[in-house]
Amino acid sequence: MSSEGLPESPQAVSRDVFRRACGRFATGVAIAGAIDSSGVPHGLTVNSFSSVSLDPPLILICLGHAIAAIDVFRQSRHFGLSVLHEDQRELAERFAMRMDARFESLAWRRGETGVPLLDGALAAIECETRHRLAAGDHDIFIAEMLRATVGEGEPLIYFASEYSRLSLD
Ligand SMILES: Cc1cc2nc3c(=O)[nH]c(=O)nc-3n(C[C@H](O)[C@H](O)[C@H](O)COP(=O)(O)O)c2cc1C
Repeated sequence: MSSEGLPESPQAVSRDVFRRACGRFATGVAIAGAIDSSGVPHGLTVNSFSSVSLDPPLILICLGHAIAAIDVFRQSRHFGLSVLHEDQRELAERFAMRMDARFESLAWRRGETGVPLLDGALAAIECETRHRLAAGDHDIFIAEMLRATVGEGEPLIYFASEYSRLSLD
């Protein structure tokens, strides 16, 4: 049985097909961040961000049960999302690498809700978690967008397991 209580289909695709099929859906890239009970920021690279509802303004991210900061996100009321600019690929790589203190020596600030937000992002979003659902090996965090500042520029793209840029011409 899956974690939602539904039987798993014997016809489910392999992990490889799943990854390659999902990888054909191009996304932007964001850094999700939350503060632990000692005030230390934690974060990781995500592309599972999606808008959910306009009224109320809800978004979601999916976080793996195995990520180092899963309990920080589960326990904190708020989290931040910094949507990356095309020139911020190094940040995407850093926040997907195994390392402690990913925010150390970076230019970041605390939003009004205390969440960590990276300087230079295309959008800086502050969210309050409203629902958390376990789904397979991830938790889905559905959250209300409380604040957002929006910048100008082109986004970093993730497609077929590679970083890319928009090229519309
Ligand atoms: C482009 C990209 C998008 C990712 N999106 C997600 C995501 O949405 N959710 C997630 O749990 N992990 C995602 N990951 C993986 C995490 O960033 C990475 O596994 C995480 O940093 C795990 O390390 P940690 O356990 O040390 O935090 C993504 C990685 C990359 C490179």
